[in-house]
Order: sequence, then structure tokens, then C-alpha cells
Amino acid sequence: MHLISIDSLSDEQIAILLDAADLFARTNRERARGSDKLAGRTVLHLFYENSTRTAMSFAMAASRLGATPLTLPVERSSVQKGETLEDTARTLNAMRPDALVVRHRENGAVQRVAELMDCPVLNAGDGTNEHPTQALLDALTLRQHFGSLEGLTVAICGDIRHSRVARSNAKLLPRLGAHVRLAGPPGLLPDEAAESGDIEEAIAGADAVMMLRIQRERLDQDLGDAPGEFLSRYGLTAERLQLAAPHAVVMHPGPMNRGVEIASEVADLAERSLILRQVENGVAVRMACLDLLIEA
Ligand code: NCD
Repeated sequence: MHLISIDSLSDEQIAILLDAADLFARTNRERARGSDKLAGRTVLHLFYENSTRTAMSFAMAASRLGATPLTLPVERSSVQKGETLEDTARTLNAMRPDALVVRHRENGAVQRVAELMDCPVLNAGDGTNEHPTQALLDALTLRQHFGSLEGLTVAICGDIRHSRVARSNAKLLPRLGAHVRLAGPPGLLPDEAAESGDIEEAIAGADAVMMLRIQRERLDQDLGDAPGEFLSRYGLTAERLQLAAPHAVVMHPGPMNRGVEIASEVADLAERSLILRQVENGVAVRMACLDLLIEA
């Protein structure tokens, strides 16, 4: 079994993963947080794009379970000598890893790799397509905070067009009973966007507001925005957050560009900002995913 898309998970598997992750999140807070469940297993990491949270939390997850995480430094690998993605995958497969975690700039690249591997492959983000473990950790964070996702309204705002986080969340959160509103500036919404992009309308009355970074590395043309212009027109300021429900929480998958899509004071709001809780849950969710896939 691979984890490439939210679509490939059954409702039962989603429930199993969230319950297991919830337990791991608790044991991760204890001193005796290590386990040897996956002792002797090796998890390889193949990241063609930069990462802090996803890469480190997958590595932490493997080591917490007693497995050995190994990272191929792509920028110093034979990829730079012209080796194709497929040949790199075949090479790693010949070493008989127990799982492979892949991030790549092209949509569908992780699926292509999975077809060549004998071990489970986990998608750590493919282009603008999907980032399933991020959606799972977001769902867990919401579930822990609100008890359930049933009936919640989640506004996801910013660069929706390039966001694999938004795409995976738009698939997962409604399956757990939440209503997702997507909003972004003109040009940063997908062509097929069902709801129009007004950010203030999306935030109005929402239980959770998830902000997204502008993925400038995926833009054909610079936005040409002056410093501070994006924040005042489309960002999450303290004033805009007032439009949300009084109990609303703030989320962000990271990395944040403070003062661009989110005001620094909003990112740091005590109790209401769940941003570091998302990071913490990232380790737990990836432990649950590795455990389920490797043990299957
Ligand atoms: C995101 C990603 O890489 O898709 N980050 C993450 O994994 N937490 C979002 C981004 O790069 O803006």
C-alpha cells in the first residue's frame, strides 16, 4: 500500500490513522517516547524540493518508532549527473528499503516512483497536486481542538492555485464533516474554484482560518506587489480575524512569510494560533502512516 492521495484512503483507514496519531501525539509528550515497533526497518527520504517540517517530522517519526531514516541529499547526488527520477527510484529499490518518502516538484511524480518500488511510498508533496500527510495532521489538529470536525467551517486562504496543502485538505476535511471555503486573490485561485475568492467572505464566521504562503517559486511572473501590500489587501490581519467566529483558531502549514499572508501578531496569538501544534502533530501523523504502511 502507498499513500499518494487522500483519495486512496478509505474512511476506515482515515479513522485508524487519526486515532493512532492521536495516541502517538500523547506518548510523544512523555519522556519515554521512543518505541522499537519498527526496529531494523529503513525509511529512505528522497526530496527534490526544500523542506523543514515535512522532512524533519518524517525523520523524527521513523526514529521514534525505532526505524532508521536515511536521506539522499538530492543536490549532491547523481541526479546532478543526469540520472532520471525513474533510475533513481530503481536504484533505491534495489537496496530494499522498508519505505520511501518522496517530495517532487512535478504533479504525479510520486505516483510514477511508486509504480517502480516494492515498498510503500509516501507522498511528501508532489507539485501543486497533493500533500496527504499535511491534510491528516491538519485534521488531527482540528479534531483535538474542537473534539470533532462535524459542522466546522474552515476557511483556507491565500495561494490556493499552487497549494497541494489546500488540495489535500479540500478532499479530506469534508469527508470528516467540515465545510471548506477556499479564497485567494485573483490569479492565485485554481481555474476550477467553486467558490469565489473573497477572503473576507470566506473568513466571516469561520471556526478555523488556514493561511497559505504565496508560492513564488511556482509563479511564471512576479506578482509585483509592494512590501506590505499583500498583507493589507489579502492577508490575515488582527482586524480580518475579527470577522471569524469569536472562538476561531489560526492555522498555517508553514513556512510562514510573516507580514505577507499573515500578520506576525496573529501568527503568535496565544491559544488561538495552532501553528506549532500542527508541527507537533506532524510527527505523530507520520508515525501513524509509517506504522500502518510498513506493518501492512
Ligand atoms: C507546504 C508544502 O511544501 O507544500 N509546506 C509544508 O509541507 N508544511 C507549503 C508551502 O511550501 O508553502
